Amino acid sequence: MWIDSHTHLNDQAFQEDYPIAIQTAMNSGVSTMMVVGYDLESSRRAVDLASRYPMLWAAVGVHPQDARTWNQDALRTLEDLLKEPKVVAVGEIGLDYHYLDSSKEDQQGAFREQIQLANEYHKPVIIHNREAHQDTYSLLNQERIGPAGGVMHCFSGSRETASQFLKMGLYLSFTGVITFTNAEKLRNVAAEIPLDRLLVETDCPYMSPYPFRGRRNEPFRVALVGEKLAEIKQLPVEEVMQATTANARTLFQIE
Ligand code: NI
Repeated sequence: MWIDSHTHLNDQAFQEDYPIAIQTAMNSGVSTMMVVGYDLESSRRAVDLASRYPMLWAAVGVHPQDARTWNQDALRTLEDLLKEPKVVAVGEIGLDYHYLDSSKEDQQGAFREQIQLANEYHKPVIIHNREAHQDTYSLLNQERIGPAGGVMHCFSGSRETASQFLKMGLYLSFTGVITFTNAEKLRNVAAEIPLDRLLVETDCPYMSPYPFRGRRNEPFRVALVGEKLAEIKQLPVEEVMQATTANARTLFQIE
C-alpha cells in the first residue's frame, strides 16, 4: 500500500467530494494520506478531517505565501492544533520567492518561528522551497531541525541541492512533476536519491502526473509517481512502495 505524504484534501477543490476521493484512493492501494495545512483555516480543516478518518493524518502550518498574516495569535493557534492527537507534523512552511505577495523578510520570520515550534513539540517539518534554495538552506542551518527531522516537499532541485538536504538528514519527496515530459533533469536527480530517503506525494489538487496534467489531482494518483520512481531507479514497484511507505511511517511516527 502507498502513503500519499502530501495532499490538500482540505482544499476548496475537494469540498464537494472529499469522501469519494478518499474512498477511491483506498480502493486503489493507498493506505494513508497526510492532509497538509497552508494557513490557519486549512490547518483546522486538516485536523478536522484527520479526526474523522482513521487513514488521514494532519500537518499544520502557514505557507510562505501567507507569511504576511503570521503573528503571535497564529503561533498560538498552531500550538493548540499541535496538541491534537492526529497532528504529526508542522507544514507546509518555507520560502517561496516566485510569489512575493509576502515579503522575503515576512517569509523568513514565519519560517523560523514555525521551525522553532516544530522543535519544541518534537514534530517533523514539511518544507516548501521555491526559487529560494540558498536562503532555505542557510535558514535551516541556523535554526537546526530537531531529531524529528523533516521533508523537502515537491523536490525539484539540482543534484547539489539534493545532496545538501540529504546531509541535513532530510527526506526528499517527489510529485507528478517527475512524470512530465520536460523533467529529464529531475529524473536524473531522483535516480540517485537513496531509497531510504525518498517519499512520494501527489500535492493534490495540484501537480497531476502525466497524462492528467492540468486536471485536478487526487491521492490515488500517488501510484503513478511511485511507478515512475521505480522505472527511473530500475527497481520493482513493490520495493519502492515498501520503502516509501516505511519512510513516511518513520518520519511521521504513524503506525
Ligand atoms: Ni502542498
